[in-house]
Amino acid sequence: MNNSPIGMLDSGIGGLSVWKEVKRLLPNESIVYFGDGKNCPYGGRPADEIRGFVVEAVERLLERGAKLIVLACNTATAAAVEYLRDNYDIPFVGMEPAVKPAALTSKSGVVGILATKCSLEGDLFQKTAAKYSDKVNILTAVGESFVEIVEKSQEETAEALEKVRIVVEPLVEAGVDKIVLGCTHYPFLEANMRKVIGDRDVEIIDPAHAVAERVRFLLNENDIAAEESHVADYEFISAATEDYVEKLLKKSSVIG
Ligand code: DGL
Repeated sequence: MNNSPIGMLDSGIGGLSVWKEVKRLLPNESIVYFGDGKNCPYGGRPADEIRGFVVEAVERLLERGAKLIVLACNTATAAAVEYLRDNYDIPFVGMEPAVKPAALTSKSGVVGILATKCSLEGDLFQKTAAKYSDKVNILTAVGESFVEIVEKSQEETAEALEKVRIVVEPLVEAGVDKIVLGCTHYPFLEANMRKVIGDRDVEIIDPAHAVAERVRFLLNENDIAAEESHVADYEFISAATEDYVEKLLKKSSVIG
């Protein structure tokens, strides 16, 4: 038993879509969430630069006593998870591109993966996609401007809907019946995606719940779960200013 917090990190606000699922599944676990904010977005940057930011975030989380760290960011996972597992002793949970559940359940034989440039170019996605490419046709797209829209809390604007339409409509027209959210910012635009999809039969797959299940499994396996009676607390830290921490707090209270 271990009542120390779970650490979570993202380039910014996006990882809160995973934070929410972990909090719901494991209500007695404290969580300290690092939202970079200063170097966001990560997605178009080179992998080694992102790895540097992630290592700094991990060090901050370890200072706070994190017993396990969730990379609540597909881009950070693509750039750094192997390095972290090789260089630190605690368990790390990364975001897996949910190609498998999409490929195994697709009826049309065409699936869409939305992610950042860095994630789509990374080994993790390339290898996973290669495994299923004989079963389904995998179409990929970068959610251009999606991260910026979410960071500015502009999800409900007409401009956000238009940006989502530009990316999602071609996938739907190409026959996808599954769209995988391969970036943790993108679930915040799911309502817009549903508007674009309308009554066409397309399922949106968000891996956040599966990641929370993996966290539970690893806590138990390593015997580091919190006591049942433990009262959780939630802390937010950042590489940016105090205003950014306020932003994280505000968003977390709206969703969680
Ligand atoms: N939320 C992130 C991800 O899951 C990072 C997006 C970004 O900073 O570009 O990929």
